[in-house]
Amino acid sequence: METHLRPSEPRFDLWSPEARVDPLSIYARMRKEASVARVLSPTQRVPMWVVSRYKDTLELLKDTRFTKDRYRLTDEQRHLYFRVDEIGHIDKHMLNSDPPVHTRLRSLVAQAFTARRVESLRPRIIAIAQRLLDELQRRESVELLQAFAFPLPITVIAELLGVPTEDQDRFREWTTTLMSPPRSDNLEPIRKTAVQLQQYFQGFLARRRAEPRDDLTSALLAAEEQGDRLTPVELTSMVFLLMLAGHETTVNLIVNGVWALLRHPEQLERLRANPSLIESAVEEMLRYCGPVKHTTGRFAVQDTEFLGQVIPAGQMIMASLLSANHDPEQFPEPQRFDITRAPNRHLAFGSSIHFCLGAPLARLEAMLAINLLLERLPRLRFAVDPSALQWRTGLLIHGLEQLPVSF
Ligand code: HEM
Repeated sequence: METHLRPSEPRFDLWSPEARVDPLSIYARMRKEASVARVLSPTQRVPMWVVSRYKDTLELLKDTRFTKDRYRLTDEQRHLYFRVDEIGHIDKHMLNSDPPVHTRLRSLVAQAFTARRVESLRPRIIAIAQRLLDELQRRESVELLQAFAFPLPITVIAELLGVPTEDQDRFREWTTTLMSPPRSDNLEPIRKTAVQLQQYFQGFLARRRAEPRDDLTSALLAAEEQGDRLTPVELTSMVFLLMLAGHETTVNLIVNGVWALLRHPEQLERLRANPSLIESAVEEMLRYCGPVKHTTGRFAVQDTEFLGQVIPAGQMIMASLLSANHDPEQFPEPQRFDITRAPNRHLAFGSSIHFCLGAPLARLEAMLAINLLLERLPRLRFAVDPSALQWRTGLLIHGLEQLPVSF
């Protein structure tokens, strides 16, 4: 058992320029060389451990010895990873909690996101996508993220929650800042953004409390008022999480999915010829270039041995979903993009109790968005050399900075 890092131990820099252009090569090396790899964090001071194989990812995500509740750590341990302390009103949500709190919070909204309930949103998703495509078609080329992939899911989740859709642009700015790793010790931009987001949601909930409407937030407010099922802080945190998780990821599924199709014209033609393949095509997009690169962190409450490695108390461990989804032990020829791949039990939505609550919504949005896009733009193509496209830095989101297309 190793408790300390030896100089010879492989170290992996997931923030290097190489990792940005070609993360899969680093993950291939990681899967080969280490069950649990120690990675360098941007400031190289915070210890982080990463699991990269498919079967190890499943093990980690069901291991109840690790906590998602950062408040179970000592203040000193917590401040190593979460140096912004002013957001205590939006961080008490299900993704930051363990059972039984997690079970209670998740069960309050689970009904709203079942495949059946989500299916009722189909006409509205189509209408939003068609409106965006009407605008798009007036031009010859656009940046797809800005013009289509971003406004679609954020409008859907905002309408569901009753959050004013005209605040979209502010969200985009805030969430981009929040999801970008700090490159230096200056945490001021992140702190400021987190505080603005918190104030925004507190203000929104105060307005809804005064004037309930027919939306998910008002339904949650009713649950809060019924007694001890949801505290005001949990409610604000829940709406924040749903809004954030509900758009930041799906945007990148649409963009990455279109990128993968344009890179593989024969697969694009198959889908154009037979749009009913969209269901398995979206699953393959989730596997091949899913929008969540790593899960969020889990923490060792005490020194914990995991796959022969001791994770010291208070340290963070996470799984690389992109790596697990390219593990040749699970997926034959993982580098091949095949829209009819079967079986395709990818881990793009995570696994175990924190499995993505919004998976049915994300799948439906991506299927409708991509098929409508292909139907309306039969000459869709890259507007720039695809090798010039830039991927975002950061461990959580796997997405392009921009995707300029013409048609
Ligand atoms: C393609 C789009 C999406 C992907 C790839 C994705 C991926 C994930 C992953 C990997 C997790 C687990 C993270 C972890 O265990 O650390 C997760 C959790 C979650 N996702 Fe998604 N997500 C997507 C879209 C959505 C949407 C549209 C919603 C909208 C409501 C949503 C809501 C959530 C919530 C609430 C959780 C926390 C669940 C829990 O803690 O029990 N996600 N998602």
